[in-house]
Amino acid sequence: MIPIVDEDVEAYAAEHCSEVSDLYERLREETYAATTLPQMQVGRIEGRLLKLLVQLSGARRAVEIGTFTGYSSLSIAEGLPDDGTLICLDVSEEWTAIARRYWAEAPWGDKIELRLGPAIESLEAIDGPIDFVFIDADKEGYIGYWEALLPKMAPGGLLVIDNVLWSGSVLAPETESAKAIVAFNAHAAADDRVEQVLLTVRDGITVARVR
Ligand SMILES: C[S@@+](CC[C@H](N)C(=O)[O-])C[C@H]1O[C@@H](n2cnc3c(N)ncnc32)[C@H](O)[C@@H]1O
Repeated sequence: MIPIVDEDVEAYAAEHCSEVSDLYERLREETYAATTLPQMQVGRIEGRLLKLLVQLSGARRAVEIGTFTGYSSLSIAEGLPDDGTLICLDVSEEWTAIARRYWAEAPWGDKIELRLGPAIESLEAIDGPIDFVFIDADKEGYIGYWEALLPKMAPGGLLVIDNVLWSGSVLAPETESAKAIVAFNAHAAADDRVEQVLLTVRDGITVARVR
């Protein structure tokens, strides 16, 4: 991912977000040391934003598509009330094994449940109403996830979608992922079931509220 925001500005912004516990710092360090694509992790700015959005929306039932080593899931679950639940969908046993260790350590980690397998299949077994969704997996799957989730969303529920600017390549898409993001953005923007804003935060984040 090529940063859209100047790296020094991004670092300054991160330093001025609310403190995160030592758990997140250790997870960040382990992800950089143990995986080949650590930049997939959402990090502090987006993590704090996710937690805040969960709290502001009053969500109780949340779903995440694309868990990796667990940073975003920890952030979402931290914002949920004590009786809240987060179902995490991912295909990677290896990466989510790291996530599981950090969930076990977090005082709020017991709100999280992992379902391994292709997300589009796992979604079939999840009933609504869902209050909060974070989509951060294969970009070619985004339209399918959107369509599978929208009928299950609670009125006023939030969908948060990551990487919607794909390093700025949406302006001249060449790769399959960039083309998929362009198609997704057009699809979501034309959907009058939601109100939405595309934020130029990190790699681009769409926040959509179900009408
Ligand atoms: C960008 S990473 C997620 C990063 C994570 N949100 C974080 O903050 O650390 C994308 C994840 O999507 C998962 N993934 C890719 N294709 C998938 C699919 N078809 N179904 C479920 N998960 C998938 C990958 O295994 C990977 O862990």
